[in-house]
Amino acid sequence: MAAYQFGLIGYPIKHSLSPWIHQQFFEATGINGNYSMIEIQPNKNFSESMKALKTMQLDGFNVTVPYKQKVMDYLDEVDEAALKIGAVNTVLCKNNRLIGYNTDGIGYVRSLEQKFPKLSENIDLPILILGAGGAAKGIYHGLKYAGYNHITIANRTTEKAAQIAGENCVISMNEAQERLAEFRLIIQTTSVGMKPNDHQSIISLENMTAETIASDIVYQPIMTKFLREAQTKTTSIHLGHTMLLYQAQSAFKIWTGQNPNTTGMDEALQKQLEG
Ligand code: ATR
Repeated sequence: MAAYQFGLIGYPIKHSLSPWIHQQFFEATGINGNYSMIEIQPNKNFSESMKALKTMQLDGFNVTVPYKQKVMDYLDEVDEAALKIGAVNTVLCKNNRLIGYNTDGIGYVRSLEQKFPKLSENIDLPILILGAGGAAKGIYHGLKYAGYNHITIANRTTEKAAQIAGENCVISMNEAQERLAEFRLIIQTTSVGMKPNDHQSIISLENMTAETIASDIVYQPIMTKFLREAQTKTTSIHLGHTMLLYQAQSAFKIWTGQNPNTTGMDEALQKQLEG
């Protein structure tokens, strides 16, 4: 069979780790393929870029910032989860049709349950999501889809959180800070704490308890200030780069039908990130 052709569209993508991850997947599965970077400058005509993309005969591509919503207008079909999230990060090109998916939420949940396997037996645990951007929305729906049913969102702009979870499941950041002890899983989804602002954290973790899992989707740096503070309270820490790995695994499965074994990749990816 001819080698699979995959790619990534977005801007900027120079430092993306997706090519490295998919190379590991090709090796782990023995599948022959390439994963190329297709940078689309924001000042370019996106329709023209999509036309050019169609001539590349790709079997599938990933979509990253800033095109996860925009790309939806150019697809023949969008699956239900991606429609709910309102964003697509994976496109399957099949029989001349483009089909959109979103693997961010499901990838996040997989990475979490991989690290904490007992979690799925405890779907009633109180979860707090910090932030209400695109990433938070994907994770919220991923958790819901997996059955978790006790999710609160805190955001600087509470209206945005209410749009995702409904007014009754929203609190302010200050209230979240006060009530941290009530939650057993706290997920940091904002860009606060990302390099070069790695001295910042969205919230004080003073009231967090030792029974709580602290999760941050920021992976540059890997140990954010949020996680460093959490470590003084709990040993249950979930690192952001693992979400990257498992959203890629779900995309690879959509494209090839195979779920690559990720043993050892978490640590290897961490090494890549730390340069
Ligand atoms: P993404 O799609 O990557 O999630 P986004 O849509 O820009 O990014 O969302 C960023 C999130 O980080 C939002 O929840 C944002 O809060 P607002 O909705 O109030 O804008 C949050 N955020 C970013 N910078 C912040 C800051 N300095 N303080 C508090 N929240 C911040």
